[in-house]
Amino acid sequence: MSYKTQFVKIKDLPPANSFLSPGELAYLQTLRAEKRKGDWLGGRFALKVLLAREDNLLPLCSLPSENTAHLLEMSDVALALLKQIEIVKLPSGAPQVIIGGVADKRSVSITHSHGWAVAAVADAQTFLGIDLEKIETRSRIWAEEFFLEQEKGPATDEHLTRVWTQKEAVVKLLGRGLSLSTREIILSDNQVQFVGRAKEAWLAQHQPQIILNSTRFDNQFIFTTAYAAARGL
Ligand SMILES: CC(C)(COP(=O)(O)OP(=O)(O)OC[C@H]1O[C@@H](n2cnc3c(N)ncnc32)[C@H](O)[C@@H]1OP(=O)(O)O)[C@@H](O)C(=O)NCCC(=O)NCCS
Repeated sequence: MSYKTQFVKIKDLPPANSFLSPGELAYLQTLRAEKRKGDWLGGRFALKVLLAREDNLLPLCSLPSENTAHLLEMSDVALALLKQIEIVKLPSGAPQVIIGGVADKRSVSITHSHGWAVAAVADAQTFLGIDLEKIETRSRIWAEEFFLEQEKGPATDEHLTRVWTQKEAVVKLLGRGLSLSTREIILSDNQVQFVGRAKEAWLAQHQPQIILNSTRFDNQFIFTTAYAAARGL
């Protein structure tokens, strides 16, 4: 069980019409806010590049995560390949990959934060969710609202940001987003427990053993991947 990730700086994206499918371009027109447009585009670009590399459509090379400017140098041929990988939104908000009109079974996840977009992919037998958040001032009232008492730990901004990314990665792994309450996901020493609707979602997935991997990124972010082997698929 493994996963791969692709980080992209949103300011480094090529023009939207160079890598989006006609359907995606039409959806982009419906988005109003510039920030939302950039985030949405960044997530699509990161995931398309990642999948194209996985499928050997693009040459594999390791990207220095802090410098993605050279993605702008992708050839027209390479960018045209990306148009054939389409990412649609399921009713839940979760991304679904379509290649050649067929739904791709791999697990994917997208996150964006403060100018960065990230995509991750794992095989069809893995549940996956990712979240990137900047380490920012987190108020006591904020922590009170979203966390359980035992999760607050040292209550530093870094700790609270880490716990927040873990909860968001887990709600994405469950395919539910914040239709679930963050208080229905209980974290302790990187272990996850569930109550309420989150427990129902976890039971429906046959109780996968979730692994959390949280790292610092670009010095001021926390990036978390939640992943688990699917049982009975
Ligand atoms: C999912 C959610 C936890 C995202 O957290 P966030 O910190 O605001 O945003 P992030 O940048 O980390 O992640 C956003 C990405 O999460 C993914 N996502 C959204 N809903 C998801 C779900 N139910 N399951 C898994 N992933 C989901 C999407 O890919 C989205 O990016 P995109 O819209 O550009 O494709 C939260 O915003 C949420 O629950 N939103 C409501 C979901 C929604 O929109 N539902 C109605 C759909 S019409």
